[in-house]
Amino acid sequence: MQINLNLKEKVSSYKIYINELERLELKGKVGIVTNAKVAGLHLEKLLSVLKCDEKFIISVPDGEKYKNLETVEQILEQLFVSKFDRSSTLIAFGGGVISDMTGFAASIYERGINFINIPTTLLAQVDASVGGKTGVNNKFGKNLIGSFCQPKAVFCEINFLKTLPKREFAAGIAEALKMAITFDKEMFDWLKSINLDDENLAKLVEKSINLKAKVVEQDEKEKGLRAILNYGHTFAHVIENETNYKEFLHGEAVAIGMNMANRLSVRLGLMSEAQAEGIKQVLVKFGLPVSYKIENEYAFYEAFFMDKKTKDDKINFIIADKIGSAIIKNDVKKEDVLKILREFK
Ligand SMILES: NC(=O)c1ccc[n+]([C@@H]2O[C@H](COP(=O)([O-])OP(=O)(O)OC[C@H]3O[C@@H](n4cnc5c(N)ncnc54)[C@H](O)[C@@H]3O)[C@@H](O)[C@H]2O)c1
Ligand SMILES: [Zn+2]
Repeated sequence: MQINLNLKEKVSSYKIYINELERLELKGKVGIVTNAKVAGLHLEKLLSVLKCDEKFIISVPDGEKYKNLETVEQILEQLFVSKFDRSSTLIAFGGGVISDMTGFAASIYERGINFINIPTTLLAQVDASVGGKTGVNNKFGKNLIGSFCQPKAVFCEINFLKTLPKREFAAGIAEALKMAITFDKEMFDWLKSINLDDENLAKLVEKSINLKAKVVEQDEKEKGLRAILNYGHTFAHVIENETNYKEFLHGEAVAIGMNMANRLSVRLGLMSEAQAEGIKQVLVKFGLPVSYKIENEYAFYEAFFMDKKTKDDKINFIIADKIGSAIIKNDVKKEDVLKILREFK
C-alpha cells in the first residue's frame, strides 16, 4: 500500500509505504539513527532488507528528555566523523522522538541531506513521521527549536508495532482519533465499532496517514487548516507541564485534552452532550484516560499563555463542533473556560 503526499514544491513530494519495507533501496552512505531499545527489537529486520553502499548505526539515548540540541550534536558529530556528504541519507528508526531529532539533524547537516522515516511506534506512524515538522526541546519548552523538512519517504511496518507496550499503543490511537474527530466522521464510527486486529490496525494507519497527508498538502507550514490537528493539545500541553511530563504519555494527555475541549464545545453550544459523551466512551474503549484533577483552575488558565501557539494574548482553542469537523476559536470568554475547568476539579 502506498500513499502519495503531493506538495506545491513538486520535488518535495513523497510516498508513504505501508508494509513495503523491501522497497527500501538507497545509494551512498546511510546513517540509521535509533536507540538501544528499538535496535534490540527490530534492527536486524531493517538491516536484512536495507540495500545501500555503506551503513552506519547511530545510537542515541531513549526518551523525550534527550530530545535536545546535545543529542542532535552527537548525531552530527558522527556524520562528520564518517564523512557524510550531500548524497548520504539519514534514516530515523524509532518513535516520534527519534524522527523529530533525525529530521532536524538532516535538515541542518551541510544545509540539508536526505532523510527517511521508519517509524516504530503507532504515534509516529499515524502522526509524527508524516508532514515534515522536525525539532527538539529546550528549557523554554517543547519543540521550540526546529525546521520544516520533509522526509524523502516514509516506511510504516505494522509488524514493528507488535512489541509496543499497551500504553504507548493507546497513546498512538489518541492521535488517530484526533484526526477522525476533527476531519472524518466515518472513520470515527468505524473506530467505535471495531476491534483492533492486525488487519484493522493496518487500516487505521492507512486512514490516519491519508488524512494527515491531505491536511499537510493543503497547509504544509501550518498557516491555518493544519492547526486543527492541535485539537486537544492546548489543554494537553498544560497537563503535561503541570505533571512535569511524568504522569502521562503525550497521547494520554491529548485524550484528556480532547475531552476537555469537548466540554468547552458543549458549553459554547456547538456540540451536544450526547456527542461529547460518545467521544469519551471511545477514548475509554481504547484504554485512554479522560479525567485529570485540576487543583487550581486559575493557574491552569494562566498556563495556556505559555504555549508557543498562544498569540497576542489570545488562546486558540480547536473545537470540534460536531464529529468530523472542527473550528479554531480565539474569542472564547475566560469565564466559559474557567467554568469547564471547574468540572475537572
Ligand atoms: N513532528 C510531528 O509532527 C510530531 C507529531 C506528533 C508527535 N511528535 C513528537 O513525537 C514524540 C512522541 O513520539 P512517541 O510517542 O513515538 O514517543 P517515543 O519516540 O519516545 O517512543 C516511545 C517509547 O517506545 C519505544 N519504542 C519505539 N518503538 C518501539 C517498538 N516497536 N516496540 C517497543 N518499544 C518501542 C521508544 O524507544 C520509547 O521508549 C514527541 O516528542 C512529540 O513531540 C511529533
Ligand atoms: Zn500530539
